[in-house]
Amino acid sequence: MNDWLVDLGKNPRARSLVKSLGLPIPLPAQLQREHGTWAPRPLMDRAVALGAAPGAALLTSVAGAVARAGGDPFVEGDASAFRGAGDAYGRPARGLDQAPERLHALVFDASGVTDAAGLRALYDFFHPLIRRIGRSGRLLVLGRPEDPMIAGALTGFVKSAAKEIGGAGATANVILVARGAEALAGGPLEFFLSARSAFVTAQPVEVSLAAAGEPALRAKATNGDGAARALDRKVAIVTGAARGIGAATARLLAAQGARVICVDRPEDVGETSTLARELDGVPLGLDVIAPDAGERLVEAARAEGGADIVVQNAGITRDKTLGRMKEELWDLVLGVNLAAVVKLNAALAERALSDGGRIVCLSSIAGLAGNNGQTNYAASKAGVAGHVRGLAPKLAERGITVNAIAPGFIETRLTAVVPLAVREGGRRLSALGQGGIPEDVAQAIAFLSSPAAQGLTGQVLRVCGGAFIGA
Ligand code: NAI
Repeated sequence: MNDWLVDLGKNPRARSLVKSLGLPIPLPAQLQREHGTWAPRPLMDRAVALGAAPGAALLTSVAGAVARAGGDPFVEGDASAFRGAGDAYGRPARGLDQAPERLHALVFDASGVTDAAGLRALYDFFHPLIRRIGRSGRLLVLGRPEDPMIAGALTGFVKSAAKEIGGAGATANVILVARGAEALAGGPLEFFLSARSAFVTAQPVEVSLAAAGEPALRAKATNGDGAARALDRKVAIVTGAARGIGAATARLLAAQGARVICVDRPEDVGETSTLARELDGVPLGLDVIAPDAGERLVEAARAEGGADIVVQNAGITRDKTLGRMKEELWDLVLGVNLAAVVKLNAALAERALSDGGRIVCLSSIAGLAGNNGQTNYAASKAGVAGHVRGLAPKLAERGITVNAIAPGFIETRLTAVVPLAVREGGRRLSALGQGGIPEDVAQAIAFLSSPAAQGLTGQVLRVCGGAFIGA
């Protein structure tokens, strides 16, 4: 990362000078990340503190996920729910009083909370523990989405907690599990507890049965569900794959076993071909706004036996305040970022995407929050967020999930051209105090593309380090 504030912070002289002026030097914690194929035991030998409010219903999912991930469970109160899973994986549950001082993760099942007074359980569990959370640690709350008051309170709680622990590179998130969808909570739990979610913080996700019917189960049975190489034998299409987030995504999907059709503009076919060769994938020089783009993508997918994963990542910015914006800039940005996404999704879903498939589209926090000089970009990216919400129920009966990722400040060509002050603001003004890297976004895309994310559809997941802009 080319970051002059971080460089300044590393220079002892500059550091003491700035300190003597009473100014803080933001030296963000180095985030622990996972690269390439997913580690089978992401929490190996790490201490996980577990607690629950009375009436908790998700402890079996929590116990299974923590044990599978190799974590050492230290349980507050009744540990019976953790015994079976913990013993099966050689990770016997112990009392919280036996936990080491440094804790990697704090996990609290708040699914039993039914009223405002019950929220006190959050305070009781986290108050004595939050300062013991380690570098790149994890704070995770589980709840139910059915009561909007409770779900809202849990979300507000983690958003604030994320800001308190972000300086240590630690994250805080909430998983809301609909009644009946408990068996689908394990995948999201493992993702949020692992280093794969390093730049995802202050986020709620909702796990539901919406897309978990027959076709999904069939697709899963034929494709396997191991964490490592979770995408073996799948075919993925990634648009805008020549560089940045698209290239990182293509690499990660390939590392999980997918055959990747790498799509980018015809003028970028050199980069696209090099990448496709490296990944043993398929290059496709294609402008997503070309009139025959849908037809050509469908053909390319069918030549590989159909597509299982579609990542709509190609995107552009053409910033100008509205009064100064030429109509071509409006048309181009809306055309590439939104109209092409809608059109290509329709063509692929109808003619090439298999049942149990995945669609992941790139939105942006600029779209969710609005940004000066970006009326065209924000309209297109907020449109994408609305598009996935609208499309998800239509494809749910085929077991296809449709989600969006809204990245915050990610270090790519797109953000390298932003003026310095705005760029520094984009990096600093977040709970984690730094920008993300393309692989952070790729990890979230790969997770949403995996069998483990069957319970997530119609969602917009921010990968933004807890950026302060945008609700
Ligand atoms: P990038 O500029 O590095 O890569 C975008 C790719 O899309 C390029 O390879 C480009 O050739 C391709 N592309 C553009 N127009 C195309 C077209 N008409 N047909 C085919 N391919 C086309 O950008 P980056 O940063 O990797 O962004 C990827 C996506 O993530 C975009 O949709 C962007 O809006 C979104 N995003 C990025 C953020 C960031 O901080 N970098 C923040 C929020 C969203």
